Amino acid sequence: MPEEVITHSAEETTNWGRQFAKRVKAPVLVLLTGDLGTGKTTLTKGIVAGLGAAREDDVTSPTFTLVHIYGKKPKVYHADLYRIENFHDFETLGMEDMFTSPSVAILEWSERFPLRAPWPQLRVRLEHLGGDARRITVL
Ligand SMILES: Nc1ncnc2c1ncn2[C@@H]1O[C@H](COP(=O)(O)OP(=O)(O)O)[C@@H](O)[C@H]1O
Ligand SMILES: [Mg+2]
Repeated sequence: MPEEVITHSAEETTNWGRQFAKRVKAPVLVLLTGDLGTGKTTLTKGIVAGLGAAREDDVTSPTFTLVHIYGKKPKVYHADLYRIENFHDFETLGMEDMFTSPSVAILEWSERFPLRAPWPQLRVRLEHLGGDARRITVL
């Protein structure tokens, strides 16, 4: 059964992310789906902080830079595939080194580009429930 939680603030979502990080063991793909503004980047702050790879405030949206890398062992890749339409675009991300060592890859809009990777996946869906309420579902 999918596990779900409802949060009522960005802080609640990052806090949930910090707890969720305990289940995130490299190598793994963390696939985040949800409309714009549902909290994918906000959740990532919590996950990255929970993994001890960076401080929450240092985790920012990779919307324009496309990919951020935090920490060392394991490296935590955070990418936004919103603008990715094909393999050529994907190659421009510079993530090709990712699979050379067990890493954590947190991907926003992962459904835009089906990443074929031999790593386990954790899929998390975020939904607007009106106001500051969000439903987070582990699929
Ligand atoms: N319950 C909540 N969970 C996550 N973000 C929330 C919540 N309530 C309000 N927000 C706000 O919604 C916005 C979510 O933005 P962001 O995390 O960048 O979304 P996305 O990456 O999905 O586009 C932030 O401004 C955040 O402060
Ligand atoms: Mg985002």
